[in-house]
Amino acid sequence: MNKYVVTGGAGFIGSALVRALLREGAHKVVVIDNLLGGKEENLAEVSGSVELHREDICCYEAIAPIVRGADVVFHQAAIPSVPRSIDDPVPSHEVNIDGAFQVFRAAKDGGVRRAVYAASSSAYGDTAVLPKSETMMPCPKSPYALQKLVGEYYASVFAGCFGLETVALRYFNVYGPRQDPSSPYSGVLSLFMKAILDRRPPTIYGDGEQSRDFTYVDDVAELNLKAARAPDVSGKVINGGNGGRITLNRAWALLQKMEGVEIPPVYEAPRAGDVRDSQASIDLAVSLLGHAPRYSFEEGLRLTLEWYRSQHR
Ligand code: UD1
Repeated sequence: MNKYVVTGGAGFIGSALVRALLREGAHKVVVIDNLLGGKEENLAEVSGSVELHREDICCYEAIAPIVRGADVVFHQAAIPSVPRSIDDPVPSHEVNIDGAFQVFRAAKDGGVRRAVYAASSSAYGDTAVLPKSETMMPCPKSPYALQKLVGEYYASVFAGCFGLETVALRYFNVYGPRQDPSSPYSGVLSLFMKAILDRRPPTIYGDGEQSRDFTYVDDVAELNLKAARAPDVSGKVINGGNGGRITLNRAWALLQKMEGVEIPPVYEAPRAGDVRDSQASIDLAVSLLGHAPRYSFEEGLRLTLEWYRSQHR
C-alpha cells in the first residue's frame, strides 16, 4: 500500500491535497505539520484517514522516521507571504530554505521515490513579457521569492546528485475555502472575503490595477496528483497556474456584485517587494502533466464566497 506524506498538510493548500489523495483512493495519508499556520480543523472531516504528526520540518531527526518508506512526499509546509518575509526574514528563511533541505534530505535517506515541491510564481519577479513561462530567468524581488527559488534549486540538485525524483510546481496565487483571513499577511482574496461579509472596505495597496493569476485550490491539488505520477519530469520546474489574469479592482468588483453591495476600497501605498502582474503560461503543465484547470475565476470565487458565508457569524 502506497504511503503519502504531506508536509503542511493541515494548512489551506496541504489539507486540500490530503482530501484529493483520499478521494483518489489513498487509504491513509501522513501529515507533518507544526500547526503554526495549519489547523487540525482543516482535517476534521478526514481525521480517521489521516495520521497527523505535530513536528517541525527543520528537525531532521523528528521527520526522517515519518518520511521513511513513502512513495511520494508533497512538500507544502512553508511560511508564506512576501511582506512577512520582509518584516521578519529569519523564520521564513529558516523554514523555507533549511526546512525544504531537511525534507528533501529525509526523503532521499528514506528511499522515497519522488518529492513534489510547492514553489512560487514570485520567483519570476517582474518580467517584461506575460504570460510567464519556465524558460524565463527568475528575478526574485523579496526574501520569500528568493527562498522559494532556492527550494526549487535544491529540488533539482537532489534529483541530479542524489537520485531523488523531484518536481517543483510554481503556484500562482492559490485561493479557495479554508484560506485563513486572520492575519494582515493573509492572501488578498481571503481578506476580501472577510471584508465583504463584514461590510467593510478592503485595503488595496497601490492602484488596484496589479493583476494575479488566481488559481483555485482544488486545481492545484489535482496538479500535485498529476505531478506525483507523470513520467520523465524529474528535476523539472513547472507552473501551477490557471492561465488567467485578474486585477484586484476587478476581483473586488465581482465580489460586490455577488454580494449585492457597493463598498469602495481604501487605497494605500504599494507594498515593498510586490510584483505588478502575474500570469502563468500553462503550456508546460499541460504537455508534461496533463494539467486541466477546471475552475474559472468567477466559479472559484463563487464557491469560495459560499464557504466563507457558511463560516461567517
Ligand atoms: C505571492 C506569490 C504567490 C504566493 C504568495 C505566498 C506573486 C506574484 N505571487 O503572492 O504565488 O502564493 O506570495 O504568500 O509573487 N494586497 C492588497 N490588500 C491586502 C493584501 C494584499 O491590495 O489586504 C495586494 C498585494 O499588495 C498584492 C496582491 O494583493 O499586490 C496579492 O497579495 P497576496 O495575496 O499577499 O499575494 P502575493 O504577494 O501576490
